[in-house]
Amino acid sequence: MYQLGRFEERFGSRINIRVANVDDSEDIFASQNIAFPADPTNLTVGEIRDFIGHEEHTFIVGFFEDKFAGYVATHSKKYYPWTNGNSLVVADEYAGKGIGAFLLRDAIISCRKLVIRIFVEKNNFRAIRLYKKFGFFCVQKIPRHYENGDDALVMLKWTFHVNN
Ligand SMILES: CC(C)(COP(=O)(O)OP(=O)(O)OC[C@H]1O[C@@H](n2cnc3c(N)ncnc32)[C@H](O)[C@@H]1OP(=O)(O)O)[C@@H](O)C(=O)NCCC(=O)NCCS
Repeated sequence: MYQLGRFEERFGSRINIRVANVDDSEDIFASQNIAFPADPTNLTVGEIRDFIGHEEHTFIVGFFEDKFAGYVATHSKKYYPWTNGNSLVVADEYAGKGIGAFLLRDAIISCRKLVIRIFVEKNNFRAIRLYKKFGFFCVQKIPRHYENGDDALVMLKWTFHVNN
């Protein structure tokens, strides 16, 4: 289980996590494109602007010493029983400081459905490790799900219990 206190002790006052506003759109767009350079499902900056503040979408941003460090995006479609975790990105220069964990925790807390569902590339061990520590469990493997032929793992978590 996750020990967020470990990160809090070391970096607490230097990390700031908050709900995004439209002024964060360019930073979100840039970090999305660095993390996933060839993903055809990447959002345009206009879509990000439209989704921020939309009732089905949640964007949460993370800062390290007031510099944009990453974001998480979720989508709760009206008639779907789950929230989709669409994107979780922390810039490499801020990795390992707990920002991914803090973002993920707030994304789970903000969920309006009982379940959150994410897709993750099966060799993305850093992300899978993070998800598992929060209690995500794998329910399905989808062969060749991604454009480059990589398999995806589908992982779920109940949102009414968040590890701290
Ligand atoms: C996955 C990701 C969000 C993690 O962000 P992060 O802020 O580094 O995460 P945390 O600091 O909370 O650390 C999470 C775990 O990863 C480990 N980690 C962080 N950086 C690492 C690195 N460079 N190498 C190996 N492990 C690393 C941390 O030690 C921690 O594990 P631990 O608690 O067992 O020590 C980030 O690596 C990322 O944006 N990756 C690219 C985009 C991506 O793949 N997103 C997920 C798509 S489904």
